Amino acid sequence: MEHRELTLQPRLRMLADLVPPGAVVADVGTDHGYLPVWLLQHGKIPRAIASDINAKPLEHARRTAAECGMSNRMEFRLCAGLDGFCPGEADVIVIAGMGGETIAAILEAAPWTASGNTALLLQPMTKAEYLRIWLTDKGYSFTGEHLVFDKDFLYPIFIVTGGNTVKLTDEEAYAGVMLEGDPLYGMYLSQQMSRLRTRIDGLTRSGNESAIEEIRRLETLYGALAARKEKLHDHSS
Ligand SMILES: C[S@@+](CC[C@H](N)C(=O)[O-])C[C@H]1O[C@@H](n2cnc3c(N)ncnc32)[C@H](O)[C@@H]1O
Repeated sequence: MEHRELTLQPRLRMLADLVPPGAVVADVGTDHGYLPVWLLQHGKIPRAIASDINAKPLEHARRTAAECGMSNRMEFRLCAGLDGFCPGEADVIVIAGMGGETIAAILEAAPWTASGNTALLLQPMTKAEYLRIWLTDKGYSFTGEHLVFDKDFLYPIFIVTGGNTVKLTDEEAYAGVMLEGDPLYGMYLSQQMSRLRTRIDGLTRSGNESAIEEIRRLETLYGALAARKEKLHDHSS
């Protein structure tokens, strides 16, 4: 029987490239199951567990696995976050395509993920700065950070494990932890600066006295990111 061959969009492809060969992968919030099925189809991993909080996406993942001939190497779990998982079941846990706060809530409910034995690949769609601070406050440390451009937008991907050594400043939370060498870093700084500018403009327009302090904080952050960008420019010219 002919099996379907998957092609991944750049965001999922970057995640796939960051999975170490031979790892057992848990894909939390798998939706169509494209990432684990692609990894299996390309012989990069031996086994995967795909989970989702909703039945319909998990059904889609089952269908993708069947169409690609990978059902016998996958398990499917209907559960919230990591509720249906035991420590040590997977070498790599991927939580991608969700908001930074949702990713933090999933990890908060599974404190064993901060023990240091499991690698986490996290890809927040929003609130990356919130998630960076949350992770380092809660005892996780960054072993890598990457950027990927997909459908007009730049997404950071965090490689994280348990065992925190450093607390982050506000500036690091916005600018990224290990992105300095990334070819898309300048673009990421611009994206973050433009988000800060929108926020500052909104607060300024509100005319609210109590926002003055926050505006000052965000302006300082904006200036710090602009200085980083300037430095990048100096190095490249
Ligand atoms: C936008 S899709 C992302 C799919 C895929 N991970 C990706 O990066 O393309 C988000 C998926 O996460 C699931 N989801 C949302 N909150 C979840 C939670 N707390 N636990 C497990 N799955 C969740 C949704 O049902 C949905 O299928």
